[in-house]
Amino acid sequence: MATHKLLLLPGDGIGPEVMAEVKRMIDWLNAQGIARFEIDQGLVGGASYDADKVSITDATMAKAVAADAVLFGAVGGPKWDPVPYEVRPEAGLLRLRKDLSLFANLRPAICYPALAQASSLKPEVVEGLDIMIVRELTGGVYFGEPKTITDLGNGQKRAVDTQVYDTYEIERIARVAFDLARKRRNKLTSMEKRNVMKSGVLWNEVVTQVHQREYKDVTLEHQLADSGGMQLVRWPKQFDVIVTDNLFGDMLSDIAAMLTGSLGMLPSASLGETDVKTQKRKALYEPVHGSAPDIAGQGKANPIAMLASFGMALRYSFDMGALADKLDQAIAAVLAKGLRTADLKSDGATIVSTAQMGEAILKEVQALHG
Ligand SMILES: NC(=O)c1ccc[n+]([C@@H]2O[C@H](COP(=O)([O-])OP(=O)(O)OC[C@H]3O[C@@H](n4cnc5c(N)ncnc54)[C@H](O)[C@@H]3O)[C@@H](O)[C@H]2O)c1
Repeated sequence: MATHKLLLLPGDGIGPEVMAEVKRMIDWLNAQGIARFEIDQGLVGGASYDADKVSITDATMAKAVAADAVLFGAVGGPKWDPVPYEVRPEAGLLRLRKDLSLFANLRPAICYPALAQASSLKPEVVEGLDIMIVRELTGGVYFGEPKTITDLGNGQKRAVDTQVYDTYEIERIARVAFDLARKRRNKLTSMEKRNVMKSGVLWNEVVTQVHQREYKDVTLEHQLADSGGMQLVRWPKQFDVIVTDNLFGDMLSDIAAMLTGSLGMLPSASLGETDVKTQKRKALYEPVHGSAPDIAGQGKANPIAMLASFGMALRYSFDMGALADKLDQAIAAVLAKGLRTADLKSDGATIVSTAQMGEAILKEVQALHG
């Protein structure tokens, strides 16, 4: 059995609390011989600043580069608001994304049947929803140069951001999305603004070419990003995989997030290029939520986003899709039994702590494993 090297970076606030539930799961998997994970752990964010005055040390970065996957909790909190900008907690996460060249951000939006009532949309619109948003993460307007504010000298200033994409950046994110679609319901929707943006024209052209050349078996459709946003709240179940740029992806994935209820439910994966020699790719898995300082240390955090992020690692880094399916089924079963952390509370539900939720999900996985 292959040994998988996992680096755990719990971070700040509720990060360590939700990561503890992943450790509980990993310990059991290792003890049962179902998988062999070699775990290392490091500091990131405020915790790293407190120890070493940086948001991530070079030594921890080296461990991240050497790992098969990184599991990241959350960083930040008011305690570190006064620290210098370059070493603020979030800088640790940005360095990880940059140094590991994590260009593809995967955000599933899944609505567990038991939580359909918790959505702001009608239950029939979201019940059973299972879509995946693939966002380009290292290019586009967030990084393009020039990026300036110029004083025009007449009491006016001019701000410039630059939206820029090269062919290879669009090709590689398109391939990630087409590959995912093939493993799901075989449909990809590409979103851009080709009606008003040159980068949208190129995006559309390149995605179409990749489709023609390499993925003719996948159904491809194009939508303008604004009407795509509308469709996402009108009838989200029409989508399977959506691929879009950094800016639109940032917004569309947050919209999709709210279809499913709480922030505490949302996992994500960020993937790099596949190494041609080893066939492995750098990857970081993290919940979408932050460090939730308002509830940290109280045992109230929902560990599902963190556990589901581990599930994505099983699926996308370790080729353990069957185990990932069991973890997803276990989460659905626990919710169906009425167990809820405080963020999900609803009439008739049993409110449980972070650890109780983690234990209950592990018990379901154990039962499913027989
Ligand atoms: N990737 C990251 O590490 C990341 C992401 C977002 C925010 N942050 C940082 O986190 C800190 C707090 O930011 P924020 O309050 O805007 O966002 P947040 O996601 O930490 O919290 C927003 C709200 O959602 C609740 N919440 C979040 N996760 C939850 C969970 N698992 N279970 C139950 N409730 C949960 C919180 O209690 C809070 O009320 C800030 O320092 C921010 O910079 C970090």
